[in-house]
Amino acid sequence: MIGLKDKYKDYFKIGAAVNYRTVDTHKDLLIKHFNSITCENETKYDNLQKEENNYSFDHADRILGFAKDNNMFMRGHTFVWHNQTPDWVFKDATRDILLDRMKNHMTHVGKRYEKDFYCWDVVNEAIEDKGHMFYRKSPWIDIIGEDFMDLAFTYAKEILPEADLYYNDYNESNFPKRDKIYRAVKDMLDRGVPVDGIGLQCHWNIYSPSMDDFKRAMEQYAKLGIKIQVTEMDISLYEFKDDSKLDKPSSELISRQTALYREGFKILRDYKDIVDTVTLWGVADDETWLDYFPVKDRKNWPLLFDEAHEPKEALYAIMDF
Ligand code: XIL
Repeated sequence: MIGLKDKYKDYFKIGAAVNYRTVDTHKDLLIKHFNSITCENETKYDNLQKEENNYSFDHADRILGFAKDNNMFMRGHTFVWHNQTPDWVFKDATRDILLDRMKNHMTHVGKRYEKDFYCWDVVNEAIEDKGHMFYRKSPWIDIIGEDFMDLAFTYAKEILPEADLYYNDYNESNFPKRDKIYRAVKDMLDRGVPVDGIGLQCHWNIYSPSMDDFKRAMEQYAKLGIKIQVTEMDISLYEFKDDSKLDKPSSELISRQTALYREGFKILRDYKDIVDTVTLWGVADDETWLDYFPVKDRKNWPLLFDEAHEPKEALYAIMDF
């Protein structure tokens, strides 16, 4: 079997989220099938700068070493987010103090990896899911104000003129959130804010989104005229609000998952001219964040390789074209 990345070489890069352990435990699959890497946690604010001006790069460096040894691209994730950001960042912060901290962090981290990371998620998950609100409530917007995204992208471009800068979010296919994401990015572009791409997390489950909705979302985002990446794809076997547990996945559930992967990748191939990378949020079903989220200690099977690192039906399905 040829590698997934080789099958897709005329379409887009194929990425995986890794952590400092899985670059060892999953290295054979990574080397064969993937040509782009995202750190699952190691390049988040709280991992890099737990205390002010006290940076720890060990884990991120180890992953970068793996990527370099194997000629893989690295994407940066993420600078401005309401999660996994240490409390000190917001403590006693005025607008100017928080902007300073934002800029310092981007400078330190961004410059260190300037030659190695080809893109960054500059802002992550800033749009509200629920209908009546536009922005998600967070200390960033509370303290800085509604221009916090404009400023984040402007600083990032000054610091990293060569990198592609992304706005990244989940529930990217659902109405009305997809309209709000589109509007937020469109307005930034109209104001001359340097956004190079839109990151669609694509944390799906076998019931949602419908592929009609995904198609509509792709159509709409394509109109922005910037790049698109799928940044965190996985397909859970549970509906989001379902807290039941399965001992093992039935063949029916696996077929639904396969069908969604097949159809999703088909749609993505139709947009190959603007889709830059499609990243899976993990490598194989033995190590996935969905074993802990949204229900703790519940097994899930969301990826393309099974717990024994063997290809699943979904892998064959997306290679069958
Ligand atoms: C997740 C990681 O996979 C987990 O290990 C961690 O405990 C929480 O964060 N959206 C994102 C990712 O942008 O950074 C999240 O990653 C998953 C949801």
